[in-house]
Amino acid sequence: MDTSGTRIALGTILPILLLCLPYFSIAVDVIYRPVELLSINCGSSSNFSTLDGRNWTADIKFLSENKDSVAASALTPSTQQGPYTYARFSHSQFTYSFPVSAGPKFLRLFFYSTSYQNFDRSKSDFSVKAGPYTLLHDFNASLNADAGDEPGNYLFREYCINLKDGERLNITFIPSTTDSYAFINGIEVVSMPPYLYYTNLDDNTGFPQIVGGVTYTIESKSALEKIYRLNVAGTNIPPTGDTGMLRTWEADDNYVTTQSNISVDFGGITKLSFTTATENYTAPDKVYRSSRSMGTSGSLNMGFNLTWQLPVDSGFTYLLRLHFCQLDPHVHQAGDLEFYIYIADQLATDRADVLLWTINQKAVPVVTDYIVSIPVNQKKPNISLKLHPHPKSRIKDAQLNGIELFKINHSTGNLAGPNPDPHPKTFEFPLQSKNKKSKGRTGTITAAVAGAVSGVVMLSLIVAFFLIKRKKNVAIDEGSNKKDGTSQGGGSLPANLCRHFSIAEIKAATNNFDELLVVGVGGFGNVYKGYIDEGSTHVAIKRLKPGSQQGEQEFVNEIEMLSQLRHLNLVSLIGYCYESNEMILVYDFMDQGTLCEHLYGTDNPSLSWKQRLQICIGAARGLHYLHTGAKHMIIHRDVKSTNILLDEKWVAKVSDFGLSRIGPTGSSMTHVSTKVKGSIGYLDPEYYKRQRLTEKSDVYSFGVVLLEVLSGRQPLIRTAEKQKMSLVDWAKHRYAKGSLGEIVDPALKGQIATECIHKFGEVALSCLLEDGTQRPSMKDVVGMLEFVLQLQDSAVNGVVVSGGDYEDSEDMFSSTHSSIQLSNYSNSTGLNTTSYGSKESD
Ligand SMILES: *[C@@H]1O[C@H](CO)[C@@H](O)[C@H](O)[C@H]1NC(C)=O
Ligand SMILES: *[C@@H]1O[C@H](CO)[C@@H](O)[C@H](O)[C@H]1NC(C)=O
Ligand SMILES: *[C@@H]1O[C@H](CO)[C@@H](O)[C@H](O)[C@H]1NC(C)=O
Ligand SMILES: *[C@@H]1O[C@H](CO)[C@@H](O)[C@H](O)[C@H]1NC(C)=O
Ligand SMILES: *[C@@H]1O[C@H](CO)[C@@H](O)[C@H](O)[C@H]1NC(C)=O
Ligand SMILES: *[C@@H]1O[C@H](CO)[C@@H](O)[C@H](O)[C@H]1NC(C)=O
Ligand SMILES: *[C@@H]1O[C@H](CO)[C@@H](O)[C@H](O)[C@H]1NC(C)=O
Repeated sequence: MDTSGTRIALGTILPILLLCLPYFSIAVDVIYRPVELLSINCGSSSNFSTLDGRNWTADIKFLSENKDSVAASALTPSTQQGPYTYARFSHSQFTYSFPVSAGPKFLRLFFYSTSYQNFDRSKSDFSVKAGPYTLLHDFNASLNADAGDEPGNYLFREYCINLKDGERLNITFIPSTTDSYAFINGIEVVSMPPYLYYTNLDDNTGFPQIVGGVTYTIESKSALEKIYRLNVAGTNIPPTGDTGMLRTWEADDNYVTTQSNISVDFGGITKLSFTTATENYTAPDKVYRSSRSMGTSGSLNMGFNLTWQLPVDSGFTYLLRLHFCQLDPHVHQAGDLEFYIYIADQLATDRADVLLWTINQKAVPVVTDYIVSIPVNQKKPNISLKLHPHPKSRIKDAQLNGIELFKINHSTGNLAGPNPDPHPKTFEFPLQSKNKKSKGRTGTITAAVAGAVSGVVMLSLIVAFFLIKRKKNVAIDEGSNKKDGTSQGGGSLPANLCRHFSIAEIKAATNNFDELLVVGVGGFGNVYKGYIDEGSTHVAIKRLKPGSQQGEQEFVNEIEMLSQLRHLNLVSLIGYCYESNEMILVYDFMDQGTLCEHLYGTDNPSLSWKQRLQICIGAARGLHYLHTGAKHMIIHRDVKSTNILLDEKWVAKVSDFGLSRIGPTGSSMTHVSTKVKGSIGYLDPEYYKRQRLTEKSDVYSFGVVLLEVLSGRQPLIRTAEKQKMSLVDWAKHRYAKGSLGEIVDPALKGQIATECIHKFGEVALSCLLEDGTQRPSMKDVVGMLEFVLQLQDSAVNGVVVSGGDYEDSEDMFSSTHSSIQLSNYSNSTGLNTTSYGSKESD
């Protein structure tokens, strides 16, 4: 996974700034006024101000060594405000020297990685030193920008450096080779309060604590690099919203990995009481007014940890600062809310109790500092932060308001980590082995059942595309594909809808169809992971088996259809390649792989119940859109957990739709598309008995997926005892007996509210009714699942009191539900089917 880009990219901050004009009035009333505040616009002689509150000034008077360095302007104008129009360049070493007062300073470096006049983007490679500290070493800016997961080519680094009396702050840029150059767009120096992060040796409190050890001091001779500064459960706070030091606080959503969690904003009424231990400049008020806690209630919270994962460089020691403030009206005194804090899986505090720390005073911000060393192991390990309720706490919960993480320099003065791996050659493909596994598994199932369902041709196409957000929306180059498009007399290819790739681009993206890049294998060909746009975008590249002429017209039609389908819950087609007898489709790459890979037969951590519900709702919406959103109804025909993909934010995306009609192209297989298609274990019995295809066959298959999600097992296990072999039969049987709880995935123990499992089972089994006309539509399924989620949430929030354990609640199922009628639904849920509004139908 690419994690090096998790530092704050300016790209995310500035647009927000534009929407946050109120900050500017607040900025007048700053809490801390830095003695020095220099924002230097390198390579330019003009002064200007930006909306983030910075006044940029020319750099020339601070340049102390190599005045031959040149200024050049960017060839691609920056779309962000900032010091990005010009930069300073040199093929030899150059130094800036700032006459600043003694004490700790923020040093900020701003880079815009693009091509400048006479300076090719890919040729930058340099080190940056400040006094005895190495801030960057052999830093390849383009490589770092490409590996970042924020859009744009902006790189931002922030350091804390303590200067002695009379010392100048000298910053030297050193090209790595004679071929490469060093550059810089902007430098900022801001002074900070003396003991904001550095340890005050005259004070006996507030020393950082080594996790599992004694106290530590952040000595004035050490430098720090900011890795993360997170406003937990809040929004991004731009530099103008800081306490006067122009720090940026980022929302923590990308780092919380526990799905079950809740953000609470306690609003701005209560005045916060800062203390000498935590001064009012420590963090903006906003950070302390929103906190994240566990999201479920009572004993359910004992079943998991509230977790953040923070990717870092290995081989360094880190300072982790946690910010807390007790504003919760349910918490009155010490002992009410106590929890454990684990850092990097070691116990850091066995009794974190904010009111104990503040002597029962509420609205008092507190910070705690921990030191943790990360040994050299993998390239980009995570530091995990986990909170868990103390068993003796009156309220079984945990909470956190803010996180800051800093890297501390080595004894050599080094702070620099390695460059990220370039794409695609040396990139590791962790998904590959997993995928091979799923291929093997499906193979067995297909072999086993093919005999039983004789005469029915099964296409068990395990094709997994893993994808992500598309970064670019490129208009199609119409001219370049006419040749192929018309050679078959086929319709013209979809102009403006998706992008055309040349075969050369595809070969470059896949390293000439490198076996190592295969992430999926299916009946119609291989799926490769690829990189386009100079490695900046990951894509899934599906190469249809080359050969037959017959497929071409279909291919054209298919692209036309697919490129018109756009929905949050469908995998989108980015483009295609159609030349040299190749038919290739390019999709977004989905970071988290298939739903199946998170349910069973995997080392992935188990999905929480709420996460599973959200994924089901997303997938159901995608299918609903396929059925009703396009010009003609599209029946997926191969709904299964391996065709539901998950993006980096765990949003479900239905994949592989429509492609059903691009059959295998070998002539012996041309009949396939007219036969029953689908995958073993998911096939609608009505469909294969009567060969009559309706959208309700998708509903049936989706019902199977719902059971997989509930049970965490595959639809068919041939080796299981007879009654459990088929998941559908087993679930129907258990449901009729009123003991559906038995099939629930053990990993979900304690997470599902009673009402919720009951209703979820009803939804799944209604989808699986023998008579297709009795099954709900996908729209109904969406509505019912949303209702289940509401039930779960309200159970969690204590509105429906029953956060109980489903195993103790067999009586919930004592009345027999073996003949569910759809009409029961509307009654039992208190909702009318027509009220199930689909929230986003396009
Ligand atoms: C911040 O705290 C200091 C005392 O530590 C106080 O003098 C100052 O007025 C406070 N500033 C604001 C804006 O509350
Ligand atoms: C830019 O600002 C600096 C410092 O405020 C000032 O000395 C200089 O004269 C200004 N230059 C121009 C061109 O306005
Ligand atoms: C920028 O300049 C304006 C006008 O001179 C001043 O009011 C403001 O405080 C300055 N901002 C910073 C961050 O120095
Ligand atoms: C920086 O990395 C890119 C991508 O790997 C590479 O093409 C380029 O040659 C590197 N630049 C230098 C100067 O090493
Ligand atoms: C910083 O640069 C100045 C001017 O070039 C030089 O006089 C001074 O010795 C340097 N200081 C350090 C600590 O390198
Ligand atoms: C919480 O995390 C700690 C540290 O990794 C682990 O020992 C503990 O088992 C976890 N607790 C739960 C309930 O997952
Ligand atoms: C950081 O670097 C400085 C300068 O080399 C050194 O004196 C200091 O001991 C280093 N800090 C740590 C924690 O090793």
